[in-house]
Amino acid sequence: MKWLDKAPSNIALIKYMGKIDASVNLPTNASISYTLNELLSFVELEATDAGQDSWQAIARDDCDLLALSDTGQQRFIKHLNFLKQQFNYQGHFIIRSGNNFPANCGLASSAASFAALTRVACTALAELTQRELPKITKMAQLSRKGSGSSCRSFYSPWCLWREDTVETVELPYPELLHQVVVVGAAAKEVATSAAHLRVPSSSLFNGRIARAEARLDNLLTAFEQQDWRQAYHITWQEFWDMHALFETAEPPFGYFTADTFAVLEQMRRVWQDHKDGPLVTMDAGPNVHLLWRPDQQALAQQTRQQLKEHYHVL
Ligand code: PMV
Repeated sequence: MKWLDKAPSNIALIKYMGKIDASVNLPTNASISYTLNELLSFVELEATDAGQDSWQAIARDDCDLLALSDTGQQRFIKHLNFLKQQFNYQGHFIIRSGNNFPANCGLASSAASFAALTRVACTALAELTQRELPKITKMAQLSRKGSGSSCRSFYSPWCLWREDTVETVELPYPELLHQVVVVGAAAKEVATSAAHLRVPSSSLFNGRIARAEARLDNLLTAFEQQDWRQAYHITWQEFWDMHALFETAEPPFGYFTADTFAVLEQMRRVWQDHKDGPLVTMDAGPNVHLLWRPDQQALAQQTRQQLKEHYHVL
């Protein structure tokens, strides 16, 4: 018996960074994200009598063959085990997974893959144990325990996560164009899970919750008033705030490369020259995410062409 499901990635504009309870991934502050419906993870489960769970890369035309580290495989198997416990199920599975985008380079592959694993496992386990399929709110809650940011991938286009509540928010920008300027595709030296644990050692962590919460309120207001420039300023401040926490942690760590700075500078020039431009943000990685309004399509295409002279743009 086999089951297959998929889930999208998401990009946070107000970031989840820091946990009040690491055992269940409860965040120190609320976060808001835009769901990236084109960046997908696929997970297949096959029931096996092998006596243990195992992981393999999924073979699909739309996915590169995923090379998941041993730690990555163990994290995935551990989450499946946690889901099996919820259903009191003792059997085993072969997990096959992959993404239609590069993994482990700050493109939130863990958000998409844990959401997809949770979805497919809930379907398989509900069927095998003849129980009701959990509601989306429940699935998001279960998924959060595997990877915090994955709980936001259950809602589209906008998702607000505060403490243990995850929900969609209605905003005037339901459809945005998303680009990622990939300046580095190598695996990260400091994994996000370690970053969460290390940021409280920064002296800038004092006041972080208040800053993030105030920015969230201001961002929602800016969106409601369709003040795109103000939204750009807020999201710019927010990713710098997160990266400043990284650089001032003890010991410090960071993800920016010379190319990251060059891309950010280029986006600043777009805004100066056109009095308009994309929302700019970064995850825990060197790559730069851009979000454009649909009416900015021509400027988005032109910027993409310029960026493609030097970088890979997804
Ligand atoms: O879900 P995690 O533990 O991989 O954390 C994700 C953290 C960031 O991507 C850096 C920010 C966010 O809110 O997605």
